[in-house]
Amino acid sequence: MPKSQRVTVHALRSMKEAGKKIAMLTAYDYYTARLLDEAGVDVLLVGDTVGMAFAGHETTLGVRLQHIVYHAEIVSRAARRAMVVADMPFLTYQLTIETAVENAGRLIQDGKAHAVKLEGGRAMVPVIKRILRAGIPVMGHIGLTPQAVHRFGGFRVQGKDPESAMRLKEAAKALEEAGCFAIVLEAIPRRLAAEITEQLQIPTIGIGAGPDCDGQVLVTPDMLGLTGFTARYLKHYASLRDVIREAARRYVDEVKQGLFPGPEHCYE
Ligand code: KIV
Repeated sequence: MPKSQRVTVHALRSMKEAGKKIAMLTAYDYYTARLLDEAGVDVLLVGDTVGMAFAGHETTLGVRLQHIVYHAEIVSRAARRAMVVADMPFLTYQLTIETAVENAGRLIQDGKAHAVKLEGGRAMVPVIKRILRAGIPVMGHIGLTPQAVHRFGGFRVQGKDPESAMRLKEAAKALEEAGCFAIVLEAIPRRLAAEITEQLQIPTIGIGAGPDCDGQVLVTPDMLGLTGFTARYLKHYASLRDVIREAARRYVDEVKQGLFPGPEHCYE
C-alpha cells in the first residue's frame, strides 16, 4: 500500500487475507500522533485509556464523550495515512440506541474519526447494527473490557475457563455477524485468541492476547515507558521517563547555575 493512501476498513480486511499484520497504537495528542503515523502505524486509537495513560486516573470510567471528541479531532488532524478510531466512553452507548448513534456521530462529525470502538459482546449487537446503519464503521472489543473493571473485580485475564472461553468465541462471532470491521481481544489466553482469529473473516487486534491475532495494539505512553506501567504482555520500546527526567534535571541545573539562557539564546 503506498504510504500516502489512507488505511480503510477494506485495507485491514485485505491485510488479514494476505497474512500481513496490523499495527495499532493509541494516540491522544498531535505531535505523537504525527510521529506514529510517519512510523507506519496502521490504526491510531483515541482510546478511553486517555483517562489513565494521559490524565493519570485509575480507570477509564471517568472519561466523557467531550474528552474523546477533543482528542480525536487533534489526532485526526495529525494522521495522514493511519485510520483513526475513536473509543465510545462508558455510558455513551449503553443507555439507548438513539443516544449511542448520536454519540458515535459526534465522534465522526466533530472528532473527525473514521470509525468508533465500543466494548461488549452479544448484548451490543442491536447498538452496533444501528450505528452501522448510520454509515459509521464499528470496531468491537471483548475479553478484559476495562469499562467493566468493577464487574470483573479488577483488571483480570478473561476466558480462562471453558465456559467463559466459549462465551467469548460466541461473542466474537456475533460481533462479526453484526458487521464489526475488526475486534480487539484484550487479556485472553493465547490459544483462545488464536481460535477466535481463525474462526473470523474480520481482523482481530490483540492486547495481551498473544501473537496469533491479525494485529496488535498497545497503549502508547505505556510502550514508550512514560507511565511506568508494567505487565506481562507489555514491552517497553523506549524509556521516556528516564529521558524526560534527565532533560528536566539538566534544565533545572543550568537555570540554577545561570548557564541557561546562554548568549546564543538572547536577543540583541
Ligand atoms: O482505550 C484503549 O486504549 C483501548 C486499548 C487498550 C485497546 O481500548
